[in-house]
Amino acid sequence: MVLLPAMLSVLGSGAVVEQVLGDGLATRVLLPCVFLLAVAYVSKRALQHLQPAEAKYPPYISSPIPFLGHAVAFGKSPVEFLENAYEKYGPVFSFTMVGKTFTYLLGSDSAALLFNSKNEDLNAEEVYSRLTTPVFGKGVAYDVPHPVFLEQKKMLKTGLNIAQFKGHVHAIEEETKTYFERWGESGERNLFEALSELIILTASHCLHGKEIRGQLNEKVAELYADLDAGFTHAAWLLPGWLPLPSFRRRDRAHKEIKKIFYKVIQARRRSGVRDDDMLQTLIDATYKDGRALTDDEIAGMLLGLLLAGQHTSSTTSAWLGFFLAQDRSLQEECYAEQKAVCGEDLPPLSYDQLKDMNILDRCLKETLRLRPPIMTMMRLAKTPQAIEGYTIPPGHQVCVSPTVNHRLKDIWMDHSTFNPNRYLQENPAAGEKFAYVPFGAGRHRCIGENFAYIQIKTIWSTLLRLFEFDLVDGYFPTINYTTMIHTPNNPVIRYKRRA
Ligand code: HEM
Repeated sequence: MVLLPAMLSVLGSGAVVEQVLGDGLATRVLLPCVFLLAVAYVSKRALQHLQPAEAKYPPYISSPIPFLGHAVAFGKSPVEFLENAYEKYGPVFSFTMVGKTFTYLLGSDSAALLFNSKNEDLNAEEVYSRLTTPVFGKGVAYDVPHPVFLEQKKMLKTGLNIAQFKGHVHAIEEETKTYFERWGESGERNLFEALSELIILTASHCLHGKEIRGQLNEKVAELYADLDAGFTHAAWLLPGWLPLPSFRRRDRAHKEIKKIFYKVIQARRRSGVRDDDMLQTLIDATYKDGRALTDDEIAGMLLGLLLAGQHTSSTTSAWLGFFLAQDRSLQEECYAEQKAVCGEDLPPLSYDQLKDMNILDRCLKETLRLRPPIMTMMRLAKTPQAIEGYTIPPGHQVCVSPTVNHRLKDIWMDHSTFNPNRYLQENPAAGEKFAYVPFGAGRHRCIGENFAYIQIKTIWSTLLRLFEFDLVDGYFPTINYTTMIHTPNNPVIRYKRRA
C-alpha cells in the first residue's frame, strides 16, 4: 500500500507511454481515451483560472505542453525538478502532469499540513485505491472507509510485537544463510535481485506463518510477480476494466494466491491449534463492534502486509549494501560491531543483540535519509487548504516528498554526504519535526518500521558475517527513476566469503 506514492517519479515519462501504448488492443482503446482526457483537461484548466478573487492559489509552474505538462521533465529527474522549483518558488507550488494538478509541500513546516490533516480533507484512498484494491482485494486498506482501515492497522500492529520479533530474527537469519549459499566463495552478482527474492521468503515466513511460507515455490513466486506488476502507472491512470494483459494476469494471480491463503486459514481454524503468529492474530481479531474478520479480509490484509514491505525493504537493503561496499572502513566497523556485541565466535543473532548494533542502525537510518523508498506521499484535496498564505483548491493532488525534505540544504549539514555519525549529534535536522520522514507521519504513518528495521538489520548482520563487499570497479549505482520505487541501476556487487 505504500508502493504507489512513488509512482509520481515516473508519471508521464517515455516509459509510461510505451507501456501503455505497446499493446495493439490497448492502442485502439486508449487513443480515444487519451483524446477525451485531453479535452477534459483543457476545459478543467480553463475553469481553474477562474479562481475566486479572494483566493490566492500557490505559484503555478506553467508548461507549454497540454495534458502531459511537466511529466517528462519530472519523470527524468524528479528530485532535481522539485529542488529547482523549491529554489525558485518556495516550499509550496503547483504544476500539471498527465492532466492532474500536483501541489507539493516541501520542507518541514509545509509538510505539517499533510501529516496533520484529516482524511476527509486530504484523502488517501481516492489516490491509492485504484491501484491497491485490485491487488489486495475488496474490504481492506483503501477500499474501506478510513476509520475501518485504522481498525485494521491496529489489528496488524498487535501482531507486530516484540515477542514475535524475537522469533523473526532467528527465522530471517536462517533464510538468509540458506539463500546465500548459492553465491559460493566469490563473484559479482545482482544484489538487488537477490535481496528481493530473499525478502519475499523472510516476509512470508514472518508475516504469513510457516504454512503459507511452506507453499512458496517458484510458481507462487511468479504469481506474486504478476500481482506486483499490478502496481503500474497504467493501473493508476487507466480504468480497471480495460482488457490489458497485465491487468488480466494481476487479477488471475490475485485469485490464485487468495485460494492458497483461504485453504491455510480454514485449515488453521479447523485444526484448533493456536500458533503465536500474525495469522493467528488476525483470526482472533475483532472490530470494535465485535465482528470477526472474514477469510477474505484476512487474506487481503496478509497480501497488503507482504507487498507493503517488499519493495520498500528490498531497495533499502540493496542501497545499504552499496553504501557499505563503497566505504570499506565503515563496513569493517560494522563487522567489528558484530563481534563486540555478540562475541568473537559470532553465535546466532538475537533480538536484544540486534538492538545494540548502533553503527549498523545509523547506517540504515542514513540510507533511509538519502534513498527513502517512498519518494512522494500523496492525498487528494477534498476541501480548500490554507498554507503559507495560499489556498490549495479541492481537486489538487497534494504531495510531500521525504526525498526532498531529507536533503534540504538549509536543514541538513553536508546534505548529500552519507554520514551515519550525523545521528550522534543531538539535532541532526535542525530540530525540524518533519525533516526526516521515511516512514511518513500522522494518520497514515507506517506500521512496519520496527519490522523493517529488524528484517534489514538481521539480513545485513548475517551478510557482513558471511562476506566482504566491494563496488565493481568503483561503480556506485545511479538511481533508476523509471520504477515506482527508486531502485539502483545495474546493482551488481563484488563479494568474497570471509575466511
Ligand atoms: C523500509 C521499509 C518501509 C518504508 C520506508 C515504509 C514507508 C512507508 C510510508 C512513507 C508510509 C506512509 C504512506 C503515506 O502516508 O501515504 C507507509 C505506510 C504504511 N506502511 Fe510502510 N514502509 C516500510 C515497510 C513496511 C512494512 C514492512 C510494512 C508491513 C509489515 C508496512 C506497512 C505499512 C502500512 C500498513 C502503512 C499504512 C498506510 C496508510 O495508513 O495509509 N510498511 N510506509
